[in-house]
Amino acid sequence: MERTAAITQAPGGKDEPAGAPSGGRNRGEPPDVRLSGVRKTYGDVVAVGGIDLEVKRGEFFTLLGPSGSGKTTTLRMIAGFEDPDAGGVELAGRDVTGIPPYDREVNTVFQDYALFPHMTVGDNVQYGMRVQRVGKDERRRRASEALDMVRLSGYETRKPSELSGGQRQRVALARAIVNRPRVLLLDEPLGALDLKLREQMQVELKGIQGEVRITFIYVTHDQDEALTMSDRIAVFNGGRVEQVGRPAEVYEQPANDFVTGFVGASNLLERDGARITVRPEKIRLLEGADDGSGLHTERGVIRNVAYAGMITRYLVDLDAGGEVLVVRQNLETSSTEALEQRGRQVTVGWRPEHSVAVTEETRREDSQ
Ligand SMILES: Nc1ncnc2c1ncn2[C@@H]1O[C@H](COP(=O)(O)OP(=O)(O)O)[C@@H](O)[C@H]1O
Ligand SMILES: [Mg+2]
Repeated sequence: MERTAAITQAPGGKDEPAGAPSGGRNRGEPPDVRLSGVRKTYGDVVAVGGIDLEVKRGEFFTLLGPSGSGKTTTLRMIAGFEDPDAGGVELAGRDVTGIPPYDREVNTVFQDYALFPHMTVGDNVQYGMRVQRVGKDERRRRASEALDMVRLSGYETRKPSELSGGQRQRVALARAIVNRPRVLLLDEPLGALDLKLREQMQVELKGIQGEVRITFIYVTHDQDEALTMSDRIAVFNGGRVEQVGRPAEVYEQPANDFVTGFVGASNLLERDGARITVRPEKIRLLEGADDGSGLHTERGVIRNVAYAGMITRYLVDLDAGGEVLVVRQNLETSSTEALEQRGRQVTVGWRPEHSVAVTEETRREDSQ
């Protein structure tokens, strides 16, 4: 099945440049979403400054970026709630620029769920079909299928107020997938949930996406969420896309210093006239027996220690200039031992291949 292939095959093969649409079985098939030179301004504010993106069929594609970077505006242009000032939007090879939302095979899930409070769960899920005058039996059947998919069978007669936040979000999801859109847009859908529930829902959402085989375009400002859930990520900054790639590419080979800092701790250093970064978990604090052979080593002083249960974070001022965050699992270390390290002279080391050259983010004139 074509769609399954698109999901199980790691998008963007090894030989292709980062972020390139994968070939393989999808070759020749137009992407589900293609944005070409899409731009949107509000007065003086450049919300989206001319972006190109391709999202493949069946992909879990995430728009990741800080608040105000243009993620929602991009989503609204795909949905058809906004028209771009310039550029075009294609869905499955069809130019939909200027076409109203209801004529696009796209649905949206919002953060505030937008459920009707006076309606039961079943009626909420059936609402769209009722408007489209789908027959009663057919409506019931499809609603029950959708609720089954989000693991809410048996909740048909409840009201939204009788559900938890996570369950409400799943009703919103059921309502959005009940008419099987080609593409589902999700704008920070887990933003209102507390951390534990959010992490649980991340896994569930990803599982549901695999089952329904709908292309997901997911907006978040949370880099952990993006790394956990996505097939590919587009990193937004000031209305521009800084990098598109698989989670490991974006994390391990950040395109520039913005991506380095936004998708992890930046750990930027100037060494021999070059800007480099080393991810915190790749840096070792060297002790006694570990002479650091094969590693690039530097001396420094531990300025700060933060014990966080599973791990401890150490901020180290390096003698050669700059500071690095070092993360260590608390295999044997107690919190007292960890905290006693503050102010200590240390040697840190990392494998040479774990330092990555980083270019400076290029500032463009027309972004804010
Ligand atoms: N309807 C609007 N009117 C004026 N400015 C807007 C409107 N929508 C978005 N903006 C501005 O455009 C920029 C991008 O917003 P948005 O796409 O909502 O970002 P994000 O979703 O990444 O937080 C922001 O500076 C925001 O204030
Ligand atoms: Mg937004």
